[in-house]
Order: sequence, then structure tokens, then C-alpha cells
Amino acid sequence: MDIKQRIQTLVDLINQANHAYHALDKPTMSDQQYDAYLAELIDLEQRHPELKLPDTPTEKIGGVVLDGFQKIEHRVPMMSLSNVFNEDELRLFDERINKITSEASYVSELKIDGLAISMTYEKGRFTRAATRGDGITGEDVTSNVKTIKSLPLVLKEAWDIEVRGEVFMPHKSFKAVNQERMTNNEPLFANPRNAAAGTIRQLDSKIVASRRLDMFVYAIVEAQQYVETQEEALILLDKIGFKVNPDYHVCNDVNDLIERIHAYDKRRHTLPYDTDGVVIKVNQFRLHDPIGYTVKSPKWATAYKFAAEQMETRLNAITFQIGRSGVVTPVAELEPVMVSGSRVSRATLHNEDYIKAKDIRIGDTVIVHKAGEIIPEVLAVVMSKRDGQKPFMMIDACPVCGSEVRRKEGEADHYCLNPECPAKKTYALIHFASRVAMDIDTLGEKVVETLHTLGYVQTIPDIYKLKQHANALEDLPGFGTKKIDKLLQAIEDSKRQSFDRLLFGLGIKHVGAKVAKILVRHYPTLEALMEADFEDLKNIFDIGDMIAASVVDYFQNEHNRAMLQELKALGLNMTHQTEQVKAHPLNNLTVVLTGKLALYTRDQATALIEKHGGKVSSSVSAKTDLVIAGGEAGSKLKKANELGITIMDEAAFKVMIDDNQ
Ligand code: IVH
Repeated sequence: MDIKQRIQTLVDLINQANHAYHALDKPTMSDQQYDAYLAELIDLEQRHPELKLPDTPTEKIGGVVLDGFQKIEHRVPMMSLSNVFNEDELRLFDERINKITSEASYVSELKIDGLAISMTYEKGRFTRAATRGDGITGEDVTSNVKTIKSLPLVLKEAWDIEVRGEVFMPHKSFKAVNQERMTNNEPLFANPRNAAAGTIRQLDSKIVASRRLDMFVYAIVEAQQYVETQEEALILLDKIGFKVNPDYHVCNDVNDLIERIHAYDKRRHTLPYDTDGVVIKVNQFRLHDPIGYTVKSPKWATAYKFAAEQMETRLNAITFQIGRSGVVTPVAELEPVMVSGSRVSRATLHNEDYIKAKDIRIGDTVIVHKAGEIIPEVLAVVMSKRDGQKPFMMIDACPVCGSEVRRKEGEADHYCLNPECPAKKTYALIHFASRVAMDIDTLGEKVVETLHTLGYVQTIPDIYKLKQHANALEDLPGFGTKKIDKLLQAIEDSKRQSFDRLLFGLGIKHVGAKVAKILVRHYPTLEALMEADFEDLKNIFDIGDMIAASVVDYFQNEHNRAMLQELKALGLNMTHQTEQVKAHPLNNLTVVLTGKLALYTRDQATALIEKHGGKVSSSVSAKTDLVIAGGEAGSKLKKANELGITIMDEAAFKVMIDDNQ
């Protein structure tokens, strides 16, 4: 992708959106889409400051998003790093240093792919956090950074100190965030860095907290006041309570460094977060000033960048998947390759326009990457390797039922026009039972397909009548008594599932999980929803014309009304219960107490954790979320450290309790 062109496109899109929102009061895109574009632009500008455009919306104070953050001038500017891309360039870097001093040794650290944050502590208490911004002035993101579990709110020393580190989104959180966005029909974050940058600039700290960011701290500002080397700085940071990446090494010369870099490169895909290189720093602080600085970066450090995560492979065939709404999605069947650490053999091609725009043809060599870490995507064709392949033609008949497939006006997608298409019906049922909707585990894709083909389950109410066929089911291959009992029990249990999940499960067009939640809050019963009219719906914040029309359409349909009445008669919950308990930071966490506590008794601490929705466990394992370490903590603390579990001392625990009454 041409970065310059992308920046121009983003600037135009966001400026138009700003104008539409502020001047015309007619938003042209959703907030989520806006945030995603803005996050992408900020990220590109930070990495390519030379490409920043004079009319960039990121500079405009008074914009929609930037408004919410105070500017903070950095006491010591936050510089960036020069890059090297191969061994030869690294050797040149080393030679330049050797010309000035023969004493330098190096520290190699993983370059975590997130965003740089500076954090200030006064008398050992966390007071504020700022983004890098342009290096001179950053944005005050204190309340957002506060939500990061591994941030120590109170240090083990009552020092005035400023430290710097990288805030990032671990793969696990990233997958969860994108999965949720997919469910809600929101645009996906392209990668964890983008997601972290977008999240830290969220105005709503509750959203930030839910996204589970993490951080590694790698520098002390004016470190020479405390220690003499980078190695000692990392040890000290760890000692006073920061999360420091344990993967650093002191290297005596450039050959040592190169060996280390190879080892990191091999192992990096096994890490639970993204890294894009190795940062190399001269270990001795006293050598830093003599080696010196350029305007933008120190000469005593550099970043060795790993090769990007894209792979070439052959496109063997294009197949078509029929979705729940009948949408036909072309899928690339690929010669399997390893991408970002896992095997990829299929990739989405989105729609006809996508294929035509990139001129993708069967038999081409293509470049594959993972969009948003979860969805393999064909990025481009390697044109130099094309060899007589024929242009792609979109199908005109459904591969499942043979009915006509047609492109809808004004849309990029093709649809199977047959309302009875078996593919649509099973998808509707699979979606209804899925984890994100009614969550009937045991009623997965395969089981639905079998029950559907055999005629036991044609419609949603059929699921709840399945028990009438229990005996017949036992004769089917793969359906033992136990399995059937479990299945019927799970179906029975799902009747108590929340009303919004049921609503989402119905597969009403444009009603994702989030919209379903909004709807039930306004229309807490089936009757209320059935009578909802277009004007009322449209007046609800976050519900636009399209959604309102779709909801009205669905509930006016006699067939749908009858089905819902039937589900009600079968005993499904059709009332929204308001349970709004504010989530406490301890909610749902498994906590281990260890060492001698001074501020609370064990029983008091346990009671507090339980009161706020946490669970206390006696041993540390991978399932532990948080360890609270008192004095003289021993093996449990050690294990927690090894497993990378968040550790808090008692004082920090008290701050968390006091701050979240
Ligand atoms: S040191 C003056 N160490 O890489 C040098 N940076 O341009 C200060 N990064 O934005 C950076 N991991 O956010 C350093 N272990 C590490 C790092 C690291 C990631 C990021 C940092 C900065 C960029 C360098």
C-alpha cells in the first residue's frame, strides 16, 4: 500500500466527516468507523512524521475526539529510534559507535509493537501519563492508563520519578475486541498496535478498561540519577514494581547482538503480543552523551526491524460461501502457508469489487496477510508471476440451491435470491444457537446441519420441540443417550437466556449484539418491540434510519410475529431484566493472596475481593489474574512472576479498593 496515498485518503475522509458532523449535523459515518480511521491516521503520522499533511485533522484542537484530552509538555522530549533492516546496517551502527568509544556493550530488548507512554510518579504515587504526541507535547491519558492492570499505582519506593514504556494490546485481548466488533458489525482494527492506539485515545475509560491493555516499562527518565547502566535500570524498574519484559540481554559485541536477534526472530511468534523488532541500546549511560543525538533520535540506540508478516502463495481456486442473509462471499482456496505463526489455507476475498480492483485470478501467486490478526486476507497479486490466468467471473447461480444470485443495487455484495435456500436456513439456526447469541453449546454447526438435513429442525421453534424426537435421535450415528440428554438440557437452559441475546439471535438485518442491547433497554418486552414505530426507533441514540426500518420490517411480518409468539409460548424469556451492576476492577478476577498482609487480615482482604465480584484462590496457576503480595512473599510470587501474572502490593490493592468504592 502506498502510505502517502493512504494518509491523504484518511485526511480527506476524516475532514469530510468532521464537517458533516459539526457544520451540517449530519454524520456520514459511525463513531466506530471514525475512531478506526483516526487511530490509523495517528499511527501512520507517528511512524512517518515527514508525510504529515498541513490540513491533518489530528492537529486540530476542537475536533471531536482530540477535544477530550489535555496537552502535556514532556519535561524531557520523547525521541524516536533510527532503524536498521539487516546485519550490514547493524554493523555500520556498531562501527560508528566504536569510532567514539571502545568500551560500549549493548542491551537488546524486544521492540513491543504498541505506543509509547510516559508516566510520572510523585512520592511513589502514580500521578499522570502522557502519549508521545509529537515528542515535545503529548496528550494526558492518565485515566485511561490507570485502567491497565499491570500499572503500579504505588511504587515500592516513595520516589519522584518519570518512566517510559510501551502500552500494547495482547493477542488475546485483541482477538476478543475484534471478535466483538465483528459481532456488532463494526469495522475491525487492523492490528494490535492500531487497536491499542485507538483504545488509549478513547474518551470513555470504561471502554478502555474492558479492552485489557498491558504495558512493559523500558526506561527511566534521567536514569543516571539512579543507576549507571540500562541493565541496572531494567532491574531497578522491576524491583520498584513495574512490569519489565524479561527478554533482555546484555551483549558484548555486534556478533553477540546478531545471534540474539536471530533467536528473537525465531521465537517471536510464540509470544502473546506483537513485536516488530529488537531495540539495541548502549548499556553504559555515561557513554550516551559522548555518542550523541540527531534531531530526532539518539545515536546510541537503534531498532532492528523484523521482516513484515506477509507471505506469497498460490491461489488454487475461488469458492463461495452463503451467509445467513444470503450474502455470497468469495473465498480464496490457497496452497497452505504459515502466516504470523499459523497455517492459512483459505482467505476472504470479500466481494466482486474487491477481486476486480486487485484483479485477482485463479492460479495467481498472491500475497496473504492476517487482517486484524484473525482474518486471513489476500492483499495483492504478484503480477510478475502471472502466466495466462483468466479474469475472474462472479457466479450467477447459488452453489447450494442453484437459484439466481444477484448483486443488490447500491451494494457491493451479491445475494442468493431464494428465501428457502438451505444454506440460509442452517446459517440462521447456527447463528441463533451460537456462543455470541443464545449460547447453546452442544448445538454447534455440525449438529445443526445434521438435524436440519434430517428434517428435525427447520425453524427456530423446532429447536425447542426437539425433545419430542428424543427417541428417534438416539438411532442416529454419533448421537448417544448422554449426548442427547446434554443437548436437550442445554436447549432447556437457553430459554432463560437474556432477551437481547434472543433478539440478536433472530438475525434481523443490522441488529448486531450491541443494537440488540440498546433495543431491549427501550422496549423491554416482546409486545413493546412488536409495536415499536419507525419514528420512535429513529429517535434512539445510536439507531439510524436503516436499523429502524429493518426492525419495523421484521416485526410487521406476520410470519415473524407468529414465530415469536410461538417461542414465547414455548417458555423463552422475552423480558429484559435490568441488572446494571457497575463492573468493579476486581469483578470476575481470580486473585491469590500471598505473603504477610499488614493493612488487612486475610479474611478482610478475601471479603473485599468477594464483595467486588472476585474469587480468591489458594494457588497460582495460568488461571490466576492477580496476585496480591504482602511482605516476605515466596514461591507463589516467584511463580506469578514466571507466568507473567499481574502482581500488586498491598498498598496498591488498598488504592484500588479506595478508588473504586
Ligand atoms: S527505547 C529514545 N525500548 O519503539 C528511544 N522503545 O521509535 C526511546 N519501543 O515509540 C525508545 N519497545 O514506543 C525503546 N524496549 C523498547 C521499546 C521501544 C518498543 C517503541 C517506542 C518508540 C519506538 C521507537
